[in-house]
Amino acid sequence: MTRFPIEEFSSLQTPFYFYDLKLLDRTLKEIKRTARDSRFKVHYAIKANANPGILRYIQAAGFGVDCVSGWEIETAIEAGFRGDRIVFAGVGKSDNEIRLGIEKDIECFNVESEPELRVISQIATEMGKTARIAIRVNPNIDAHTHAYITTGLAENKFGINLEMLPGMVALACTLPNIELKGLHFHIGSQITENEPFVMLCETINRLQDEYESRGITFSSINLGGGLGIDYAHPERHPIPDFE
Ligand SMILES: Cc1ncc(COP(=O)(O)O)c(C=O)c1O
Repeated sequence: MTRFPIEEFSSLQTPFYFYDLKLLDRTLKEIKRTARDSRFKVHYAIKANANPGILRYIQAAGFGVDCVSGWEIETAIEAGFRGDRIVFAGVGKSDNEIRLGIEKDIECFNVESEPELRVISQIATEMGKTARIAIRVNPNIDAHTHAYITTGLAENKFGINLEMLPGMVALACTLPNIELKGLHFHIGSQITENEPFVMLCETINRLQDEYESRGITFSSINLGGGLGIDYAHPERHPIPDFE
């Protein structure tokens, strides 16, 4: 349970943020315990909190980072994250942000559309480098969370529809200076049920089987979203059930 050091607070000017690093530490340890299989890599979505101290703490614990802007990439690097532990999603990547990601040799661009894929290829070619990419697929799965933080339904702006995937895979295999690493899925935030993740994994397994039968193996499968805080009982369940 979080213990608020109220005596110390009285000497501080308001407003201020109080972060319970012991709880963060326990949470990170629990994630590491449940994701101990070395094939799993957990990335922290920096948009949740970009406080430099928090970022350094998460980096030191061995996690990667999930960015949605050039500023987030720069902030992650300042906090010590290596380029190869940074993934970059987002529907509005500017040319400059793409250039920055390539320059920093990031682990993966999670590509949201065909035009974006073409732009990344063009910029990587101009820079004489190869960009690693995953295709963000909208799996049309209801995460049973708030409509404003749902990302994986057909009506959401993120990623490409499943029907467009074959064309995108073919394009990624032919465009210059592009290395197709795999697929990316994100269904929403503040998810407190297991069922949407089971449905997501079933969809992903089916897709992988389909592509493997055609000789295409994805080396990376990146999926989210975030496990939610139990706001009804925040003190009772401060750490989500990662298992
Ligand atoms: C690609 C991606 N990663 C991460 C997030 C952050 O959410 P969460 O930490 O709940 O996964 C979002 C939210 O929209 C997202 O689209």
